[in-house]
Amino acid sequence: MYEVGPCQEADLDDVVDIERRAFKAPWTRQIFLEELCREWAYLDVMRERPTDGTRERAVAFANYWLVRDEVHILNIATHTEQRRRGHATRLLVHVLEFAARHRCKYVTLEVRRSNQVALGLYRAHGFRVVGVRPNYYVEDREDAIVMLFEFDPADPHRREHSGDPRERDPE
Ligand SMILES: CC(C)(COP(=O)(O)OP(=O)(O)OC[C@H]1O[C@@H](n2cnc3c(N)ncnc32)[C@H](O)[C@@H]1OP(=O)(O)O)[C@@H](O)C(=O)NCCC(=O)NCCS
Repeated sequence: MYEVGPCQEADLDDVVDIERRAFKAPWTRQIFLEELCREWAYLDVMRERPTDGTRERAVAFANYWLVRDEVHILNIATHTEQRRRGHATRLLVHVLEFAARHRCKYVTLEVRRSNQVALGLYRAHGFRVVGVRPNYYVEDREDAIVMLFEFDPADPHRREHSGDPRERDPE
């Protein structure tokens, strides 16, 4: 059984493990601890609640900021052994619902140009490419693709799919 909830300090070892497996320049435990203290920052985990007595653990997480009328997604990651089970999809929907509840106009994020899996995931949920930040990632100077999800101004509570999943990849 899985459920989404706010990250507690006790989840941080799992979060750091997921992060290390997922990113070239992983954030440290200290950075995540600081996120937990920032008023505008949200760190939510997908928690596995096993029924066989084994320990509860976080298998995926989403880190995002609420700044006025915008949610900015910093990270979504799933443990390598738990991928392709819909965890990132559930977390992304959770973040979009959060943004709708807070009457946000936009959800934004950056993703590596080479990260086709993430680009596809975000496109499938209505994000579209709105820009490129050249040499954005300091460790290898890869470009960041900037993606935007826009809520329908006529009905901000409804999640409108503003992107076209068939949209071409950025040049
Ligand atoms: C991107 C990432 C978060 C996806 O997590 P996930 O929990 O496996 O995602 P889901 O199971 O919800 O998959 C959603 C969709 O993404 C696509 N997808 C996921 N993994 C894929 C893969 N290896 N190859 C092709 N498509 C893939 C599929 O369309 C999938 O839907 P489907 O399984 O119904 O076909 C995960 O691969 C990850 O942690 N990557 C490293 C960190 C990262 O790049 N984060 C995003 C940048 S912030």
